[in-house]
Amino acid sequence: MQKIVEKLKNGLQGEIIIPSDKSISHRAVIFSSLAKGKSIIKNFSKGQDPVSSLKICQKLGIEAEFKNDLIIKSNGKFTPPTTPLDCGNSGTTMRFFTGILAGQNFNSVLIGDESLSKRPMKRVIEPLTLMGAEIIANEMKAPLKINGKNLHSIEYTSKLASAQVKSCILLAGLNCDGKTVFTEPYISRDHTERMLKFMGANITTKNTTVTIEKSELEPKIFEICGDISSAAYFIAAGLIVPNSKIILKNVGLNPTRTGILDVAKKMGGNIEILDKKIVSGEDVGDIFVSFSDLKACTIEGEIIPRLIDELPVIAVLATQADGSTIIKDAQDLRNKESDRIKTIVTGLQKIGADIEETQDGFIINGKTKLPGGCEVETHHDHRLAMSFYVAGLVSVKPVVVNGFEWVDISFPEFEEMFSKISL
Ligand code: S3P
Repeated sequence: MQKIVEKLKNGLQGEIIIPSDKSISHRAVIFSSLAKGKSIIKNFSKGQDPVSSLKICQKLGIEAEFKNDLIIKSNGKFTPPTTPLDCGNSGTTMRFFTGILAGQNFNSVLIGDESLSKRPMKRVIEPLTLMGAEIIANEMKAPLKINGKNLHSIEYTSKLASAQVKSCILLAGLNCDGKTVFTEPYISRDHTERMLKFMGANITTKNTTVTIEKSELEPKIFEICGDISSAAYFIAAGLIVPNSKIILKNVGLNPTRTGILDVAKKMGGNIEILDKKIVSGEDVGDIFVSFSDLKACTIEGEIIPRLIDELPVIAVLATQADGSTIIKDAQDLRNKESDRIKTIVTGLQKIGADIEETQDGFIINGKTKLPGGCEVETHHDHRLAMSFYVAGLVSVKPVVVNGFEWVDISFPEFEEMFSKISL
């Protein structure tokens, strides 16, 4: 589907409630399936990715029903699947289920779409194999044939700061005798640790090391907050579209996810956090954003995992900031739904930005009046679709975004929300 995005002349004004967090939704449905009893999930995401996780739980024999909330009933055990389990476009679904299924007493196969079938799975296959798993995968990519085994605990130090890898190993460790200890170079999002603890697991964290022991999970009532990764498109648009003044309500503010706020403030953005509270073990609040004069900055090191999914829209933001914004240490962007270093650079160059690719990031020279008047490709990548949409809002001529339907992966309400506050 093509989307023609035109310059927004009169700014964004008003309030919107940011829809459900994708990362937390995956965890709520998967972890509830592992807990014996009835769990209630309030505000489960409508994105296709969490729905892929939900459908796999159902294929594994878990009862799920949407009333106002999502109700999950489980006897704490899975039944062997009769067909391959389809993770769609979702890396989180595939990596989490690899960790869970590797330790079951049955065999299973995980498959994914074209984009997911190109993404690296070595990062989970390698540590799981050290735990005794048997996973057969051509070139370490999906489809993954998992022969269920009795796993044993390990102490593992990961070269990557990745919440998907961390969660995969913790979920495998949940079912093993002994202590499974996972260390990462920088802290990645910690929703898994928070939620497993909330559900009664024996899990502790010290600096960048997490330790888990065999535990039974308790069913719970979960209230999922809004996704800061979805809010990021409004934060960027609010900062760069003249005459904008918006409030984004009910946004998750877990410190392992708020790198975008730190960067926006460092760039001189007018941003304020209002009404902070804790909901279901997560920090939540409202964000006020208004049009700002931005300056460039360097983004590198420990902050990268705290804003990894926001880097495409930060690139758009940087086109409207004075000076050179340098993004380093983000080589794992090449392993996302698309090679995001290449795809964001190519797309923004077409729109007329001064941006160049480096091996582990990109450099953007601003501030540029974006000419637009072109077509850009989304490469099966929801975050590119939404980032190019934001670029279109400040481009002189319309930007045509091809493959705009990919926004449904995480944020089906995206356009409706923009139209609510566009003047
Ligand atoms: C996610 C972790 C991140 C992120 C992805 C969701 C999660 O991946 O890019 O969109 O829910 O754990 P990595 O942890 O592999 O960087």
